[in-house]
Amino acid sequence: MTAADEGTGAAGLAALLRPDGWALLGALPPYDPDRALALGERLRADGVPAETVAAALTQSRLRAAARAKLGGFADGMLFTADGLEQATRLPVAARHADRLRAAGATRVADLGCGIGVDALAVAGMDLAVDAVERDEATAAVATVNLRHFPRARVHLGDATGFPDALPLARPGTTDGVDAVWTDPARRAGGRRVTDPERWSPPLSWALGLPGTGVRAVGAKVAPGVDHDLVAADGPAAGWTAAWTSVDGDVVEAVLWWGAAAVPGTRRTATVLRTVERDGATQVQEVGTLSDAGLPQAPVGDVGEVLLEPDGAVIRAGLVGHVAAEVGGRLIDPSIAYVTTDEAVSHPLARAYEVRAVLPWGLKRLRAHLREQGVGRVTVKRRGSPLDPEELRRALRLSGDGEATVVLTRRAGERVVLVCDPLG
Ligand SMILES: C[S@@+](CC[C@H](N)C(=O)[O-])C[C@H]1O[C@@H](n2cnc3c(N)ncnc32)[C@H](O)[C@@H]1O
Repeated sequence: MTAADEGTGAAGLAALLRPDGWALLGALPPYDPDRALALGERLRADGVPAETVAAALTQSRLRAAARAKLGGFADGMLFTADGLEQATRLPVAARHADRLRAAGATRVADLGCGIGVDALAVAGMDLAVDAVERDEATAAVATVNLRHFPRARVHLGDATGFPDALPLARPGTTDGVDAVWTDPARRAGGRRVTDPERWSPPLSWALGLPGTGVRAVGAKVAPGVDHDLVAADGPAAGWTAAWTSVDGDVVEAVLWWGAAAVPGTRRTATVLRTVERDGATQVQEVGTLSDAGLPQAPVGDVGEVLLEPDGAVIRAGLVGHVAAEVGGRLIDPSIAYVTTDEAVSHPLARAYEVRAVLPWGLKRLRAHLREQGVGRVTVKRRGSPLDPEELRRALRLSGDGEATVVLTRRAGERVVLVCDPLG
């Protein structure tokens, strides 16, 4: 057993699932890394077996780490370190589940369920869920995490055998699986696997799921997935690829098929933001764009305002949509910045007032910023090879003023835009 396995391997989990182990985990104080060692020593001195102590402290640490993704739910769950890293954030999982429910799903197979966060969200929508996981300890953890839902079942096995061991919904039956969710493992040996055919299960397997006769499929993919996949002649023609960001981070892309796809739409971008409301943290939708009727964006000179679209919009290739909605243009056909001549705002983009447009040159930029009394800069780049940190150091600025420096290209030429954030 490696240090990473301590407490999340089969023996550690077994210790926690005994009544005394479970009670100990529930009775631990909030996790404090500075006190964990002393707490462990005290518990062992009190006669608690070392394995139980290690397992309980590991879970306590993972629960604390899991709060960022799962909020207060984390406190009643078990984790493996890998499972937590790969788990969907709960508000995003809730949106998957809601989409499947809206597609008419009543019983969902979650193929490769991990520690069960997506399955939990499906079960929380009052749908039945069959969660399939091939790793024994992970399946055990998912079983614990789904324990409050009588219509949720975890199956230890290979997802690629679907629908072998599960009943499919058939005309005239009321209890078969009618929708599939799959979130493949896209990491191996701690590294991201970029080739979709080396994901587990591979993408080509997921794209074959409509052939099983279900009414809806959702398959998570990497945010960098090729747009050609959903082209009219692509392997996922007819699917809708949906990118989602939370607080500016692109957290996922999902391919939706059947009743969960949007007819005539290949790509969408949804922007979510965390807000505090009545003392509670909620994740809210700011907006969604889709490629249906996507206009061709014009390209032209940098105007008064620069708009930087959200990462999900960029990944989904919908920057032209933002340009069309604000009556703006691109500053370069290959660069994801939009510009306008008047002050505008767009919910899925950050806006800047452009103070100056300079051809690229370190000395010229330094002289300009010093003249303007700028001592602090935020450096952004798009289409520029320069390292923002190195540039900041090389500028050697002093002064009270602030500016956002955008390193980019205009009509193929390297330029620097000196801007101020708007609103
Ligand atoms: C990215 S994780 C799923 C995370 C899950 N959606 C969640 O939010 O908790 C992928 C899981 O698929 C499992 N897996 C990979 N290949 C599998 C296969 N062929 N059959 C069953 N499970 C598989 C891995 O063990 C891993 O736990």
